[in-house]
Amino acid sequence: MNPRKEETQKRFDADAKAYEERIIKHVNGYLDLHLSIMNMIPFKPDQAFKVLDLGIGSGRLAKQILEKYPKARLTAVDFSDKMIAMCRSRLAEFSDRIELLNEDFDNNLPPGKFDLVIMILSLHHLEDPDKASMIKLIHKNLNKPGALLIGDLTKSAYPRITKIYMDLWRQNLRDNGYDDGHIENCYREKYQKEDIPATLEDQLQWLKAAKFDQIEVFWKRYHFVGFGGFKGIK
Ligand SMILES: C[S@@+](CC[C@H](N)C(=O)[O-])C[C@H]1O[C@@H](n2cnc3c(N)ncnc32)[C@H](O)[C@@H]1O
Repeated sequence: MNPRKEETQKRFDADAKAYEERIIKHVNGYLDLHLSIMNMIPFKPDQAFKVLDLGIGSGRLAKQILEKYPKARLTAVDFSDKMIAMCRSRLAEFSDRIELLNEDFDNNLPPGKFDLVIMILSLHHLEDPDKASMIKLIHKNLNKPGALLIGDLTKSAYPRITKIYMDLWRQNLRDNGYDDGHIENCYREKYQKEDIPATLEDQLQWLKAAKFDQIEVFWKRYHFVGFGGFKGIK
């Protein structure tokens, strides 16, 4: 595992307990982004389908999916033991429908094909060429009809707009009670050391190159974006 990934894995292990409270404050619109993903799932509540959640974290969105779709089965991957442990207890009531894997998802999918793949705030942890090949691999392992739904931070192609996004991100943290020292530390630790956001334009290109036939940006709040690709859906 490369040093950046090790750093990321260590931080998620160390912060797992505080994750849920923190992520809501750090990602402006986090719960609404999850809601947008729920609204884009192209299946009916009584359908049986296989979901793959890459970077499941604490399992908040996975729980909503398992509740709304009682015949859905979930496979999830996360390389943080602590996140997987949290997830296992949150999803205990669904234990007969879930498989949780403590692995690195980087261009490494669990065997079999899936109908829905979700990646929420996790794709940006990969280097750009790995993001592109991951999208291709997911398309290959997706059934028809199928969907890849992504919610993530992106970067603007324009430094002027990136600065506006970063100022708004800092203001949102201040509004949520964090002091400037904490905010600058987060910026250095997270944004500069661990996160590798890509432009939305590049990611849409990678979806196109992978041959998704419907590609859509369905949610956006500044640099946080909900988008994805659909395969074989009329
Ligand atoms: C910001 S959290 C997002 C969690 C969840 N999807 C959500 O919506 O809150 C990112 C998660 O991805 C996991 N992760 C990041 N890179 C990974 C990798 N290469 N392999 C497996 N898990 C990874 C982290 O451990 C963490 O739990």
